[in-house]
Amino acid sequence: MIAPGFVATVLLLAASSYARPAQVGFFDVQGHRGGRGEAIENSLPSFAWGLIDGVSTLELDNGLTKDGVVVVWHDEAITAEKCRDTSPVTPGDPLFPYVGKQIANLTLAQIKTLDCGSQRVAAYPLQLLYPGTKIATLGEVFAFAHCVDQKREIVWNIESKINPVQTNATRSVDDFVKAQHAAFVASGYPLSQITYQSFDWRTLIEMKKRDSRVPTATLIDLNNIVVDGTGLSPWLAGVNISSFPGPDEGSRIAEAAKSIKANVLSPYAGANLTALFTTKDMIQEAHQLGLTVAPWTVNRLDIAEQLMEWGVDGIITDYPFLVRRLAVQRGHSVASTFSQEKVMGCLDKHLQRV
Ligand SMILES: *[C@@H]1O[C@H](CO)[C@@H](O)[C@H](O)[C@H]1NC(C)=O
Ligand SMILES: *[C@@H]1O[C@H](CO)[C@@H](O)[C@H](O)[C@H]1NC(C)=O
Ligand SMILES: *[C@@H]1O[C@H](CO)[C@@H](O)[C@H](O)[C@H]1NC(C)=O
Ligand SMILES: *[C@@H]1O[C@H](CO)[C@@H](O)[C@H](O)[C@H]1NC(C)=O
Repeated sequence: MIAPGFVATVLLLAASSYARPAQVGFFDVQGHRGGRGEAIENSLPSFAWGLIDGVSTLELDNGLTKDGVVVVWHDEAITAEKCRDTSPVTPGDPLFPYVGKQIANLTLAQIKTLDCGSQRVAAYPLQLLYPGTKIATLGEVFAFAHCVDQKREIVWNIESKINPVQTNATRSVDDFVKAQHAAFVASGYPLSQITYQSFDWRTLIEMKKRDSRVPTATLIDLNNIVVDGTGLSPWLAGVNISSFPGPDEGSRIAEAAKSIKANVLSPYAGANLTALFTTKDMIQEAHQLGLTVAPWTVNRLDIAEQLMEWGVDGIITDYPFLVRRLAVQRGHSVASTFSQEKVMGCLDKHLQRV
């Protein structure tokens, strides 16, 4: 596998202006949903704390509303675990209450009535609450970032939360890619600084077709490689992992990611050290093929240490503060922190509450 992969890598790097933090010498500490361990997820407060803590990349999720607006939220439906209803957007709105409804079936105005900052998720007991916090649009997150980051140093890793199995649960591939691409272009950040990630590889292929400047990241875990009655996984856009020549599944996964021109391989590395989905072979093959590797969601330092030993370029974590500290201890250079005073001033200006 080494020779052909290596030649391809050299050509790719020579032809590309793509610069991940890893390639400019940083270890890429990615704040998962901003930094879900430390503040309510996917919110301006979690992004604020991520920047104060020195993430190099803000990782976040996008849904698409009924009226086509890109919002920063992970779940397909609004859950009572994270959000509370306030009042209907118009008296007698038949869709009210909104908790329990799909984002694809709600307008932005309806979504903006929700309080998604008053509840601490049970699995993350250290989350800071910001009562009344509204779900933000992607445009609003970029506007907050502009306040903090005039030099445009933040790197972004933005996911399409689209469901290829139950297709009426979310909007279409075309709707997602068009709306997200427009928001990326309007952001004021160089497109090379906004990675587009997904479990649904259809959106990654479509984004590359639309604009090859956008780096893409293949998310993968045990669930989205399971084949259905057709012998393929609905998540992988017709890509057949078994058909690649690598000697083990990890290598074949890296080769599959390369086959859709992805720039980053993002495999699962949760659970525990003895049950890692991410393997050394997977990382090595990805590197041979010119991809960087950023596993998720790593909330244990024994796993983080193992991955760093295997040479990953970044780690997506709910606790960016602690993973950054480990990276520094191990001699990696890391992104600098933003001033707390400045970030909090921008948060005050931009945070919307019900
Ligand atoms: C929204 O709700 C309607 C009615 O329940 C349903 O038919 C539709 O498929 C849903 N999803 C989307 C993406 O519009
Ligand atoms: C999508 O369709 C399925 C099956 O037709 C239905 O059970 C489900 O409620 C629909 N979901 C939405 C969000 O409309
Ligand atoms: C996937 O690839 C394997 C190995 O080449 C092959 O046996 C299998 O038939 C392929 N599946 C489909 C659905 O093409
Ligand atoms: C590690 O995680 C796997 C997968 O979740 C689980 O089956 C196993 O029991 C765990 N082992 C330990 C030692 O916690």
